[in-house]
Amino acid sequence: MTTLIVNIKELLQIRETSILKVSGADMAVLPTLKNAYLLLQDDLITDFGSMDNLPKITADNTIDATGKIILPSWCDSHTHIVYAGNREQEFVDRINGMTYEEIANRGGGILNSAKKLNETSQEEIYEQSKARLEEVMQLGTGAVEIKSGYGLTVEGELKMLKVIQQLSQNYPITIKATFLGAHAFPIAYKDNKKGYIDCIINEMLPEIAKNKLADFIDVFCETGYFTVEETEQIMKAGIEFGLKPKIHVNQFNSIGGIQAGIKYNALSVDHLEVMKPEDIQSLKNTETMPVALPSCSYFLSIPYTPAREMIAEGLPLALATDYNPGSTPSGNMNFVVATACIKMKMTPEEAINAATINGAYAIGISNTHGSITIGKKANLIITKPIPSYYQLPYAFGSNLIDTIIINGTILK
Ligand code: NIG
Ligand code: FE
Repeated sequence: MTTLIVNIKELLQIRETSILKVSGADMAVLPTLKNAYLLLQDDLITDFGSMDNLPKITADNTIDATGKIILPSWCDSHTHIVYAGNREQEFVDRINGMTYEEIANRGGGILNSAKKLNETSQEEIYEQSKARLEEVMQLGTGAVEIKSGYGLTVEGELKMLKVIQQLSQNYPITIKATFLGAHAFPIAYKDNKKGYIDCIINEMLPEIAKNKLADFIDVFCETGYFTVEETEQIMKAGIEFGLKPKIHVNQFNSIGGIQAGIKYNALSVDHLEVMKPEDIQSLKNTETMPVALPSCSYFLSIPYTPAREMIAEGLPLALATDYNPGSTPSGNMNFVVATACIKMKMTPEEAINAATINGAYAIGISNTHGSITIGKKANLIITKPIPSYYQLPYAFGSNLIDTIIINGTILK
């Protein structure tokens, strides 16, 4: 099926040759074309150009985008959208003065979600999670990474990964799965940390690899969770099973997680709310994508990733939601982009690059996603009529999306 979109007010993130990420000063450059057309054949982008050069084509479907802007779908490279129940009570407890850390120390937090998950059937978790997936698709996300990490038992982790697999079989959006068995130490292993790490390496990983249930391995490298040494041990085991690392680091403390990630050639290091100058330096000239999660900073009232310093040092940066029940109960990439501009002082061009091409890089799909490039997936956001793309972060909180196209098909 051919779809021709005409009279596009402005087509954003057009890349003639396939670039895999943008870094430093290049992040401020967002190539666009005004008064454009875009041609899709089945699930792929096959042509685009100025309306002045519109070729004579009879398409199966023609869309008039007068006044509207088109950009590639958001690539959300960090989520935990498969979970059971919610943590509303902890949210209110935090309003009343408790900290995220205090809640975790009393057995809440990740362990609270793990208890709920282990008590809930796979079918029920699927039902709850698919509603969140459908919601983020309507909000413009066209590719998403989803982590396990609320099972913390062999059965629970496998159950989560199977739900992710089911979602990816049943929905058109690209889904990458990450095994995060090392999210927290479960209560049963409170005094036997080595025992839990052995369970991850010797019981969970072989089963996951055998059933091809994950693409990546993640560890929450943080004071009170997994040490740098433990993180390295788990990354190393994951790599042996074919899983590339993407890890949680520097959320509350800078303890050397970034350097560990780089040492094991992690595809991304995520969170980065607390950054020492040497952390920024370490990331230079590496293949590891730094990922900021501004909705988490917003929801927990913790620092924002120092984007300006990082970009000034020539680093790339990706933006993702971190959608999860504890620290970020929101999967809205539009809010992420707006918050990056408002709170992290990223320009709209930088934020859009970070949420598209760099997000795609952070899940290893920037050769097929994240830009308007001939041969890439026809995953698009068509906005309502808006004055310019500045409106996307400026009118934060408004839904400016008119139509979503995934794999060349309009999302109902
Ligand atoms: O990325 N920091 C670790 N994990 C999640 C939050 C987990 C939770 O509170 O459920 C995060 O913020
Ligand atoms: Fe996370």
